[in-house]
Formats: sequence, structure tokens, C-alpha cells
Amino acid sequence: MNTHFERTGPLAELSSYPRWAREVIEACEPARRSVRDHVMWDLMVEGNIDLATMRHFMVGTWSLIERFPSFMAQSLMKTRYGRSAGDNLARRWLVRNIRVEQNHAEYWLDWAEGAGVARAEVLEGRPPLGTQTAAEWCHEVCGRDTLAAGMAATNYAIEGVTGEWSQKVYDSVAYADSLPAGGRKATLRWLQLHAAYDDTHPWEALEIVCTLMGNQPAPEEVEHLRECIERSYVSLHYGLERCLAQPPVEEVEEQAA
Ligand SMILES: [Fe+2]
Repeated sequence: MNTHFERTGPLAELSSYPRWAREVIEACEPARRSVRDHVMWDLMVEGNIDLATMRHFMVGTWSLIERFPSFMAQSLMKTRYGRSAGDNLARRWLVRNIRVEQNHAEYWLDWAEGAGVARAEVLEGRPPLGTQTAAEWCHEVCGRDTLAAGMAATNYAIEGVTGEWSQKVYDSVAYADSLPAGGRKATLRWLQLHAAYDDTHPWEALEIVCTLMGNQPAPEEVEHLRECIERSYVSLHYGLERCLAQPPVEEVEEQAA
């Protein structure tokens, strides 16, 4: 029985991947939808997000953005060239894409600034309670779990759904119009780069995960991957909810003081 997976169909089509992977993706769809269809994006797309919510979102998401290359580095450390086709693919991809992430933290700060949230606030502000769950989860899964689990949770799940919401916000004329005209291009740069149009990263990550796992992994391994992917979506959703529910950042600081 050949359990080896090698993609032959188009990269960005689900039918190119093993049945178990398609079932995992389908099972995680409700959780993915809870992030993709979150009201946060509606507020942005309609051009009427309030500054306090935007500030919570920018400050609360910062550590995930800033640490993303380090999660990939944690994954890279698990690879060993020559061990398997999946290892080779993962190593090559991670080395190349850590570099791609290089400027993304800076572009996030540009977005924040254009949206009225000062850099210093993002860098030094106290993130709203409950917004660090996704970053903590990525650190845990990339540090302590398998290569496949870490890449599925971060490069497939988090990058994938981020591409979807980024595209919605980037496509919104109302959102662009809500920003100061000067520097609008720089403000939208992060969104532009992450919008899903031609972002093949999540698909490439899925290909790597499937190459590592093969065509017929044990049911408990599949279930574990499903749980890891779902947990990424759930932690993102929870963070977004906390951004909406939080009192202003200053109040949180006063309470904590
Ligand atoms: Fe990025």
C-alpha cells in the first residue's frame, strides 16, 4: 500500500489533497467561518470602526504579527534535510518564507499609525485581556508539537484565514476612504500583502503537512491535526471578541495598577 503523498493536481484546489485532509478542513469550517465572518471586519469594511476597537485590535494582535517568523523558526528547527520528502519541502519553504515575513511587522505598525493608533502604543501598550491566546498557542504548538501540527496551526490555519479577512478589508473602498488620504498606500500595505488573491502560502503549507503525514495517517494523528487547526481559529475568534468587549486601554491599565 502506497501511503506516500505527492501532489499532482493544482496547488490551490482541495481535490489535489488526500481525503483525510479534505475532511479535516471541512470539519474545521465552522470555526474558520467564525473568524472570517467576524463582525470586526464588517466594522472595517463599512468604514465605521471606532478608534478604541481599532486600538484594541492593533495592540492585541501585535505579538502574533511580531512573533510569526519566530514560530516558523521553531518549526524550522524540527526539520532535518534528507530525512523525508516532507522535511526537505518544509525546510526549503521555511527558510525562504521567514525572510518574506521580514518587513511585515513594520507594515503592521504603518497600518496602525494610518488608522490612528500610534506606534508607541502598539509597541508598549498593554494588550487587552484574552487577546494573546493565539500567539501563545502558536508558540506552544510550534515549540512542542510535531512539525506537521505546528505548520498546520500557523502557516495553514492562521495565514489562510488571515488572507480571507485581509482581502475583504483591502477590497473595501469605504475602509480606504475612512483613512487619511496622505500615506493611504503605506497604511494598506500590510492588508495588500496578506490579501488572499495570489497568496499561495497556506496552500503550500497544506502541501507540506500532507507530504509529512502521507495519504493514510493514523486516525488519532488526523484527529490531533484537526484539533490543532480548530484551536487556531478558536483562539483568533476569542481574541477578536475580546477586542470588542474591552473597556478602553487606559481603563484596563488603571484597573491593573
Ligand atoms: Fe506576514
